[in-house]
Amino acid sequence: MERSLSMELVRVTEAAALSSARWMGRGKKNEADDAATTAMRDVFDTIPMKGTVVIGEGEMDEAPMLYIGEKLGTGYGPRVDVAVDPLEGTNIVASGGWNALAVLAVADHGNLLHAPDMYMDKIAVGPEAVGQIDINASVLDNLKAVAKAKNKNIEDVVATVLNRPRHEEIIAQLRDAGARIKLINDGDVAGAINTAFDQTGVDILFGSGGAPEGVIAAVALKCLGGEIQGRLLPQNEAEIKRCEGMGINVKNVLRMEDLVRGDDAIFAATGVTDGELMRGVQFKGSYGETHSVVMRAKSGTVRFVDGRHSLKKKPNLVMKS
Ligand code: FBP
Repeated sequence: MERSLSMELVRVTEAAALSSARWMGRGKKNEADDAATTAMRDVFDTIPMKGTVVIGEGEMDEAPMLYIGEKLGTGYGPRVDVAVDPLEGTNIVASGGWNALAVLAVADHGNLLHAPDMYMDKIAVGPEAVGQIDINASVLDNLKAVAKAKNKNIEDVVATVLNRPRHEEIIAQLRDAGARIKLINDGDVAGAINTAFDQTGVDILFGSGGAPEGVIAAVALKCLGGEIQGRLLPQNEAEIKRCEGMGINVKNVLRMEDLVRGDDAIFAATGVTDGELMRGVQFKGSYGETHSVVMRAKSGTVRFVDGRHSLKKKPNLVMKS
């Protein structure tokens, strides 16, 4: 992949964020998602690459755009696989909450796990605790490992968990161990990435969320030198069959190299609503401000990009030339 691709790709998440941010707090998650998807699709057309969606808005018959198998880009440039979540946190935007992101991940063709749309159990940490966690170990053992790696007491460790009834047991074990907990209502991509940034104050993510989100988070953590482990959690026979059809043994732990292969990948995200890592979109009359992060696994470069976008000159968020 060419290095300049990362700077091009951040324009894609900026456009998605600017479009969906208009729906903040308006109680319309589908409209917010559609706005992000349409804007993302439009800008992808201007990116010099031969991309194929491997994680997207659904199968071709379910989604009008950014569907699995859809071709993206100008058709010239590197052949890449693309994972998109135009709006990660549809309910967050609908309620004006915390940590909604427009996100995408790109890797050389064949290098991203084509994660089926089902739950995945996850555990994620930043670079200091790489190699120390184990999804098969207890919550307590993982907390001990992270505390040791980060030279903290367990009482100082902050764990992020999606606030769901299915996580009652994890939350109880975290409380018994004395760890501090950040219960989030949605958005476990941000939850995973935040473990790799000291300023977020988060050390580890536990619990299950979407498998596609797990792959996207894996690309980010690969760029950041962090780690995520996952295990697919099919809920019925049909989902088990889908995994088998894809050659995935549901008992197996999916490690970094299973989720994203090779040494190169790019991740880009733009804040839609405010979060620990980045501010959301601000509208200032004639322009909008965006805050993004874009990173590349091969070089390890992490860039925070602030954008100021003229809403007069680019009302549709795209300049074709
Ligand atoms: P959406 O943006 O698709 O609504 O996903 C938000 C999210 O919170 C993800 O971050 C997470 O992986 C998943 O939903 C959790 O699923 P559930 O809401 O079913 O627990």
